[in-house]
Amino acid sequence: MSQQPLSAIDFFDPIFLQDPYPAYSRLRVEAPVYRDPRTNIVFISTHELINEVNRQPAVFSNSFAEALRGGAGGGEMDPEELAIVSQGLPPVNTMLTADPPVHTRYRKLGAKAFTFKRVEQMGAYIAQVTDSLIDGFAADGRCEFKTQFADLLPMTVIADALGVPRADMPSFKRWSDGFITQLSGVATRDERLDAARRIVEFQHYFVDMIEEKRVRPTDDIISDLVHADLSEEGDPRKMTHAELISMLQQILVAGNETTAHSITAGMYYLLTKPGLLDDLIADPEMTPGFIEETLRYLAPVNNMWRLVKQDTQLGGHSLKAGEILLVRYGSANRDEAHFPDADRFDPRRENAREHLSFGAGIHTCIGAMLARKEMVTAFPILLRRLKHPRLQAGQGEMRYSPNVLLRGVLSLDIAFDA
Ligand code: HEM
Repeated sequence: MSQQPLSAIDFFDPIFLQDPYPAYSRLRVEAPVYRDPRTNIVFISTHELINEVNRQPAVFSNSFAEALRGGAGGGEMDPEELAIVSQGLPPVNTMLTADPPVHTRYRKLGAKAFTFKRVEQMGAYIAQVTDSLIDGFAADGRCEFKTQFADLLPMTVIADALGVPRADMPSFKRWSDGFITQLSGVATRDERLDAARRIVEFQHYFVDMIEEKRVRPTDDIISDLVHADLSEEGDPRKMTHAELISMLQQILVAGNETTAHSITAGMYYLLTKPGLLDDLIADPEMTPGFIEETLRYLAPVNNMWRLVKQDTQLGGHSLKAGEILLVRYGSANRDEAHFPDADRFDPRRENAREHLSFGAGIHTCIGAMLARKEMVTAFPILLRRLKHPRLQAGQGEMRYSPNVLLRGVLSLDIAFDA
């Protein structure tokens, strides 16, 4: 059967986004640097070329926020959305959406919050949160694993680390969903307006908290950031509300959503990949390999933007300053040239850790250690406490929320012996 040309594929169609992997595989072979004729966005799809992009932040910049305002294809912002947004704080580019030297200053402060030492000390605490979440549904013999566990573990950990009362966590999820909608690249107008309202609500909540912590410092990340010194050329100063909100927003969204999807996907693979569950129960030492392979197999940040800053060449193709790229981490992770038999889930894969799920280069995820720690701690406890875990009847293949950047698992109904 003849295949349709790549140009006939709508890469932003929600139906396409359910399973982009066959198209990724064609892109890697037919056009590793591919200018999508519908949007003019350039897709980069191989492990090697994405690493090349990430090694050159001065050429392939993360200051893409302005270029994308108004939607994935660019354009003006809707006046009603603008009116809502203007009730909040002006956007500031800090970590993810900034380039050096600005990026370097904010990143240094952000990374301080998630150092190796701090994360290593969190094991017992993460185990305790895991146990108390399982207590909430263990007697039922069933649960919707994503909302009852996978969403809540990273959210509780981030809320506690930031110093936000746990009672406010339901708002956390609403706000976080607002940011995800904004990033989706496929949201309707109503969805964008709703997301803008949630984001303004988020900003007002945290401005109040920032003010409180300015006066009464506490032992948590918000307080640390509020009192941190953002020296510019030897001139000490504290961050403004807008800067702090930008940092917190990134920690909130990046810290919650991504980890939740990895945890859900890991459970799904355990229950569906033949022999995997038994292997892991028999040999808990396999857990880190299982976690890395889960991260490789489903990259929660499936794609990320870059802005071309100067005319350049990549993979033999000319790129012009001002062009928008999508670096396809999800595709890099399935690149046969780097991961032999890449579509097979193999917890013993030797180079699984070379996946690009946490990015690479100066923007490499600052929460990678924390995400790994949460997963490595939680899975052995889940397997110990949920006996004979299985999918509930009616739970078919995983479904994903339509989103260009994130590969978000929608839900996972599981059963076990109560
Ligand atoms: C499985 C979980 C996670 C995944 C898959 C993930 C993925 C990523 C990726 C791909 C990037 C790089 C984006 C780029 O290439 O421009 C990134 C950056 C970032 N991540 Fe994560 N992340 C995860 C967990 C976390 C957690 C737990 C936190 C915070 C506690 C976090 C905070 C950040 C921040 C602040 C950045 C921006 C860093 C910078 O631009 O310098 N992430 N993450």
